[in-house]
Amino acid sequence: MTGITHKVVAITGASSGIGEATARLLAERGAAVVLGARREDRLDALARDIRDRGGRAVACAVDVTRREDLHRLVDRAVAEFGRLDVLVGNAGISKIGPVADLDVDGWSAMIDVNVRGVLHGVAAALPVFRRQGRGHLVTTLSTAGLKITPTMAVYAGTKNAVRTVVEGLRQESTDGVLRTTSISPGYVSTELADSIDDPVLRGAVRENMAEFAIRPEAVARAIAFAVEQPDDVEIGEITIRPTVQD
Ligand SMILES: NC(=O)c1ccc[n+]([C@@H]2O[C@H](COP(=O)([O-])OP(=O)(O)OC[C@H]3O[C@@H](n4cnc5c(N)ncnc54)[C@H](OP(=O)(O)O)[C@@H]3O)[C@@H](O)[C@H]2O)c1
Repeated sequence: MTGITHKVVAITGASSGIGEATARLLAERGAAVVLGARREDRLDALARDIRDRGGRAVACAVDVTRREDLHRLVDRAVAEFGRLDVLVGNAGISKIGPVADLDVDGWSAMIDVNVRGVLHGVAAALPVFRRQGRGHLVTTLSTAGLKITPTMAVYAGTKNAVRTVVEGLRQESTDGVLRTTSISPGYVSTELADSIDDPVLRGAVRENMAEFAIRPEAVARAIAFAVEQPDDVEIGEITIRPTVQD
């Protein structure tokens, strides 16, 4: 299968930012999208809007920290549209701060959403991909994992944990069934700063976003590029950042 038309794509973190932009773009280009996140009202409104524009979309309330919710998301895709071609493990939170602040609760929350959440998606989607004989796992990582900077150590660690798992999974899956793509965005203008508890850091990230962040649609186009490749072409890693980001 080549292209995006007729593919069935489940997206976590679809209620805003990169996930929402990805859902809109892929639906516009003919995919059926299954939207997962916790804010059901946002998902319902997005699904309605996509359908009003002639697309195919359903909403599914999902908390990625709960393993069973990812199974429901994948089951919903199969029930509604017959299969699952792509899982975009995109849900994420950013509770940044110096390690010395010892924000153990924030660390746990990031591990639960950013790492465990993606693993729950893998656990739910992999059996379906294997049964179908093909499937594509896309994950949203971060340039924070490529250039390590103060206050982002644990957040970067969660992203690099996923980078490692996905690369291992790729090496275990060279029979042609599974494609994996990791997208590492730099500053993107989204609601991500809302999850930062420290008001000073939250303000600084919002300032950076206002000053030079790229639009989430730019990341959506990168995801679409990976998805639209023929089955025998795997786009492994994409780094996409504002041209002016250091
Ligand atoms: N913006 C950036 O500069 C940037 C840069 C690099 C990487 N990223 C990564 O990009 C991804 C998307 O973030 P974004 O920038 O688009 O921010 P965003 O607008 O805040 O979107 C985050 C999404 O994750 C969802 N989410 C959070 N916790 C969840 C949970 N427990 N269960 C299910 N969904 C959950 C949120 O939905 P609900 O609240 O409705 O659940 C929301 O849809 C994240 O993984 C982030 O780390 C962002």
